[in-house]
Amino acid sequence: MAIRNIAKNGDAVLRKNCRIVEKFDEKLHILLDDMAETMHKADGVGLAAPQVSCLRRAVVIDVGDEHGLIELINPVITYRSEETQYVQEGCLSCPNLWGMTTRPMKIEVEAYDRNGKEFSLAAEGLLAQAICHETEHLDGKLFIDIVEEWVDPQQQAEEKR
Ligand code: NI
Repeated sequence: MAIRNIAKNGDAVLRKNCRIVEKFDEKLHILLDDMAETMHKADGVGLAAPQVSCLRRAVVIDVGDEHGLIELINPVITYRSEETQYVQEGCLSCPNLWGMTTRPMKIEVEAYDRNGKEFSLAAEGLLAQAICHETEHLDGKLFIDIVEEWVDPQQQAEEKR
């Protein structure tokens, strides 16, 4: 496994549409392993392939709950609850930026695992937020596009202390 460089806001790679993954091969497995390592090292809860400059529809998520590490290949969100959550959000590609976004409280996603097996997952709260955030990366969207209220970085730093 290896740590990969995380593209930062302003890099054109973050604004591109990612291609469907068709080969569930060793190259994909190495990408996913590297993404997980890169995400954990950066203390993030999710990372999408374009953030490591790979334009493929693959994301890794680990919000520190019972699900552990989740790998979603070609994810499609098939359900979004009408009930929403107003939540603080950040992104490893946008260092020191935090803002409030509105996300569905619950979602369902269909995706493939690293071996090409299809599965679905129901998620709520932080995990639902992370899945929305990461799948949007695959369409070149960043959370800063939908921030409703910015969070003062100083206040953020104090809360983290
Ligand atoms: Ni992000």
